[in-house]
Amino acid sequence: MTPHFASFHYLLTLILLCTTITTTLAQPAAAPAPGPPPPTNITKILEKAGQYTTLIRLFGITKEGDQITIQLNNSNNGITLLAPPDNAFSALAPGVLNSLNDQQKDELIQFHVIPSYISTSQFQTLSNPLRTQAGDSTYYNFPLNITTNGTSVNLTTGIVNATVGSTVYTDGQLAVYQVDKVLLPMNLFGPQPPASAPAPEPEKKKKKTGDTPATDSTASSADLDLRGGLHGLMGGLIGFIATFYL
Ligand SMILES: *[C@@H]1O[C@H](CO)[C@@H](O)[C@H](O)[C@H]1NC(C)=O
Ligand SMILES: *[C@@H]1O[C@H](CO)[C@@H](O)[C@H](O)[C@H]1NC(C)=O
Ligand SMILES: *[C@@H]1O[C@H](CO)[C@@H](O)[C@H](O)[C@H]1NC(C)=O
Repeated sequence: MTPHFASFHYLLTLILLCTTITTTLAQPAAAPAPGPPPPTNITKILEKAGQYTTLIRLFGITKEGDQITIQLNNSNNGITLLAPPDNAFSALAPGVLNSLNDQQKDELIQFHVIPSYISTSQFQTLSNPLRTQAGDSTYYNFPLNITTNGTSVNLTTGIVNATVGSTVYTDGQLAVYQVDKVLLPMNLFGPQPPASAPAPEPEKKKKKTGDTPATDSTASSADLDLRGGLHGLMGGLIGFIATFYL
């Protein structure tokens, strides 16, 4: 072996070695190149599951679909969606959905969203009432209670009793469960506090914004009573003045 050949051989080995190093170094850089996974799209999940066209439409109207995506990206708590299929919506009395204004539709949909991830086994450990995205879970507002017995999971809103059905989707962050009924909240469909008990301030504001097309007569009956009372009072006053002057 000549010294010349030896050094050539050495050079070749070096080149080979370098190539191996660069390729091995290049590989880990190439793998994560696609970037973070795309945000979970609740609409796509429901479309894939089928039979959720009404819920998807309501997600669109209320922007709650976008809200869920934002929350999944910005919080570690996750989301649980209680999803009524189309046949649950069509089982509602005619006109129920149309009787709701946009804000009320928003509240109805938010009532089906729990701002934390609940696995099926965690259903056994929850305490009532559950807190939904609709907020205030006190009796006349948006209470949602759960009962479990190891084989079934039931929900009550005070208006309807529903059963949690199959798991539509779960990934540790987002859980979607089918429910057999549309969860109608007390605040929109139930009796309101007796007039004798003065409602707290935020309650009154809520009612005013929601009373436009209220076919839900109980919600606006307190307002009507008040107006009726004022009317009576004015009538009496005018009568009194009239008697006085005539
Ligand atoms: C849930 O409701 C169904 C009937 O609607 C009933 O058969 C079942 O026992 C209930 N389960 C619980 C845990 O309350
Ligand atoms: C839900 O459960 C709580 C606590 O047990 C109870 O006070 C409340 O009345 C229940 N609400 C409904 C709507 O059943
Ligand atoms: C819901 O279930 C409760 C307790 O099981 C029962 O008292 C109530 O009448 C039921 N409500 C409806 C609307 O079925």
